[in-house]
Amino acid sequence: MVRHLRGIRDLTLSQIQQLYELADRFLEVLQQPSRKAPALTGKTIALLFFESSTRTRLSFELAAKRLGADVLNFSAAGSSLSKGETLLDTALNILAMGVDAFVVRHGGVGTAYFLAQHLPVPVINAGDGTNEHPTQALLDTYTLRRHFGRLEGLTLAIIGDLLHSRVALSHLLLAPQIGLSLRLCAPPSLVPPLWYRVGFPIYHQVASAVQGADALLVLRMQKERQKNPPLASWEEYARFYQVKPEHLTEGQVLMHPGPVNWGVELHPALMETSSNRILDQVLYGVAIRMAILYALLRG
Ligand code: NCD
Repeated sequence: MVRHLRGIRDLTLSQIQQLYELADRFLEVLQQPSRKAPALTGKTIALLFFESSTRTRLSFELAAKRLGADVLNFSAAGSSLSKGETLLDTALNILAMGVDAFVVRHGGVGTAYFLAQHLPVPVINAGDGTNEHPTQALLDTYTLRRHFGRLEGLTLAIIGDLLHSRVALSHLLLAPQIGLSLRLCAPPSLVPPLWYRVGFPIYHQVASAVQGADALLVLRMQKERQKNPPLASWEEYARFYQVKPEHLTEGQVLMHPGPVNWGVELHPALMETSSNRILDQVLYGVAIRMAILYALLRG
């Protein structure tokens, strides 16, 4: 297996398939009464979160604990960063306590690559600025694989803030490897200009983007990273780019990495639709993260 998971490019197709297969095994474990597979007993995993998180952080913590590992939780707020300690010094000090792997989320692009260069243990990227969020793309595609029984030949429409979303870039890198077709949809101001050259069709209307797609992945407006609203206002964004019940057809799967801003990118009526697989994604995320921790620490 690989040494680090800094981005999707760290994985070959056969390693990706191994992760999906491992996740299948761990999902069975999660459904048993004990919910534990103590394969990482004696290992310690440090979660280094410099940006907010609910799902990713808790799911890594739970994944580590289900595997019997100990977890060290670091939050930027309340730490010695405010006294001038650097990122690397912080990580080296935590390493000195006896840590076997780091999971890191940081606002800086490339943080996981930087730490991986300087730390002698595996580093997993849990989101680096607007760059990548590889475990989210793996759990989204794992959700599709569970639902459809395959990935090859499926079409996924990704709708929302393509410019600032690290989830979107990880999908752009993962899709060609696993045979998934992408349709990308955003207002022109939220499409990274080079993406017009990548080969996946880009739409500026939701109704056209979703036609014939097997699944929709809707992205949150990354307001914290945007200087201006994508259109003249947030209301206009919702008016023209919100995914509404009429956009979905029978059999299509609706996904979102969370957190959802209901009423902005998704119409509130979609909370109830049978297409909604958003909470499945959350459960499958624990299994995928167990697979990643296991593969990096025991694989
Ligand atoms: C995403 C993230 O932080 O990049 N959320 C997540 O990890 N589940 C997407 C987002 O913040 O919109």
